[in-house]
Amino acid sequence: MLSKLIVAMTLRMPRWFVRWVSRRYVAGATLDDAVRVMKRLESEGACFTIDVLGEEISSLDEAQYFLDEYVRVMHAIVEQNLDANLSIKPTAFGLLIDKEKGMENIESLVQQASEHDMFVRLDMEDHRVTTETIQVVLDLHAKGLTNVGTVLQGRLHRTPDDIDDVAKAIGPDADYRICKGIYLEPESIAYTSKNDIRTKTNEAIRMALEHGAYVGIASHDIPVVNYTLDVLNEFKMGPNLEDPRENAGAQRRGKGPGYEFQMLLGVRGPMRRKLTKQGHRTRVYIPYGEKWYEYSIRRLQENPTIGLQIAKAFLMPWTNRP
Ligand code: FDA
Repeated sequence: MLSKLIVAMTLRMPRWFVRWVSRRYVAGATLDDAVRVMKRLESEGACFTIDVLGEEISSLDEAQYFLDEYVRVMHAIVEQNLDANLSIKPTAFGLLIDKEKGMENIESLVQQASEHDMFVRLDMEDHRVTTETIQVVLDLHAKGLTNVGTVLQGRLHRTPDDIDDVAKAIGPDADYRICKGIYLEPESIAYTSKNDIRTKTNEAIRMALEHGAYVGIASHDIPVVNYTLDVLNEFKMGPNLEDPRENAGAQRRGKGPGYEFQMLLGVRGPMRRKLTKQGHRTRVYIPYGEKWYEYSIRRLQENPTIGLQIAKAFLMPWTNRP
């Protein structure tokens, strides 16, 4: 109820107010804003993944905009010597409008990124594109482009099978971000209780590590982070250690020893800084773009619990510092 009330109130707030609230979570409207934020966070030992904000597109011209903008981002990373890679939304590249053209656009970016030895992460959107997104990664690997990986959502029933299938297809080249999943999916395909989602996310992290994959643990949830630290300890993985897993792939540029932690800009900064201090590689997800307003509102509507978390961050700042 409270979450829904917060969403309803936010929809009535003036744009400047929404901008003020979202400033903490969105780097700004332009690439220069994103570079400025990353330069500031560099001093905290963070590395980055950059996301150009956008709504689901309705024409392939818009897909071209995203391709061009990401190429600009890629050049900025190289020119500014940033420790960063790219996070893209496959639907923004046209995957739901024209599968072939969407694939062509993604391939073009991944190809150009590979020339700079840069990694491209395909964010995972809702269940309409789970299979296609994984397939894009497998197709690109089959073409020799291994600088690409996707996200798996702990809440989906299918995730353990996906880990098995991807391992069979590309073995140690598998590279995941594992998160709980932001989309509220139906009970027929997803776990819906907070506890189940946490348990299944933990299980997915363990399973992916067991399979030799590179794993980005994307969570601000203390029990998930602590669980991961225990598993890493069990597998004798950790900062300043070579990845001891016999089934793991070779160390890649810009990556940690088989794993890294990932967090959103503006969320749980003290926990991120503590992990960095302990030597773990920690990556901050940096969203920027003209569409910050539409993006913020849509995310709130899709998942009203975010509204509660944001309200908590402002009313009880000690629970969630940037
Ligand atoms: P949980 O929601 O329990 O949060 C734990 C605590 O963290 C909260 O109590 C609160 O204090 C704080 N918190 C978390 N999120 C917050 C927020 N937005 N604002 C303020 N406080 C917040 N999902 C997806 O479906 N596809 C994807 O590609 C990605 N990509 C992605 C990248 C990265 C780097 C991260 C960190 C997350 C994602 N996600 C995602 C989102 C993810 O699936 C999940 O919805 C959120 O991370 C929240 O889940 P937590 O594990 O953090 O736990």
